[in-house]
Amino acid sequence: MSPPIGPRTQLCGVILHPAGHTRSPAMHNAAFAALGIDAVYVAFDIAPAGLGEALSGARALGVRQLAVSIPHKQAVMPHLDAVDATARRIGAVNTITRDGKRMLGSNSDWLGVVRALERETQLAGCDAVVLGAGGAARAAVFGLLERGARVRVLNRTRVRAEQLVADLGANGAGSLADLGGLPCDVLVNTTSVGLRENTSPVPAAAIRKDAVVLDAVYDPPRTRLLRDAEARGARGVAGKWWLVYQAAEQLAAWTGRDAPIETMADAFDRVGANPT
Ligand code: ATR
Repeated sequence: MSPPIGPRTQLCGVILHPAGHTRSPAMHNAAFAALGIDAVYVAFDIAPAGLGEALSGARALGVRQLAVSIPHKQAVMPHLDAVDATARRIGAVNTITRDGKRMLGSNSDWLGVVRALERETQLAGCDAVVLGAGGAARAAVFGLLERGARVRVLNRTRVRAEQLVADLGANGAGSLADLGGLPCDVLVNTTSVGLRENTSPVPAAAIRKDAVVLDAVYDPPRTRLLRDAEARGARGVAGKWWLVYQAAEQLAAWTGRDAPIETMADAFDRVGANPT
């Protein structure tokens, strides 16, 4: 049980727009309760025009940590006192942590990808393919390179994949249709294809039978891509693990404590079962 809210209770939260069905408050509050941390975590629906004012308010109120979600991950950077080298390289901040009076930006998305995949496989020396070339793809590519994988990026708009590969020093770019001809021990989907039931960014036949496949789409929990992968004998990693591990890394960044992964995953599932 977490302590009752009192004069020393710390405030944390997530800024995003629209607030939709964010599962972050459920995950973090469950972790606070499990660890006995005197803090509460809330969702702040902040429209882009209100971002600067919201951050000034958070600073004045001494908010301990803010997660940053869509659409603020790039726009937030100039409002901070410092952005660490990893977040600058990825080009996005998903975590703001207060250090005294300073607001520091960092990025835990890349560790979310890596730790989700590491549930199933080692990444060093493997051949990885990332589908998509937006912000989520940048975090995935950074993480995979960091762990020593060879990384190719495939995207509907090939030129965006080429740009990402050039920016981060990955190993090759192409179109989604190229997947079948590439070595691929690890496949990460960061495109939004799959948000609609029964759609997949790639044909089932292009998925290697011995691959580990992670889908950033977490709703539906078992996407067409994951079902196709498993039907071929590949191992699927649900998108929820990416979110759970990036949240766990945020918590660890200010508490210095290991986050209770299973507790956070259970909280994630409970919100999914009862979205409000
Ligand atoms: P994020 O920052 O969340 O990754 P984004 O920058 O909007 O989001 O990127 C969305 C990704 O999904 C892009 O790679 C996009 O491909 P394009 O660069 O060609 O736009 C991909 N995507 C979206 N809809 C798609 C579709 N119907 N088929 C294939 N790829 C799609």
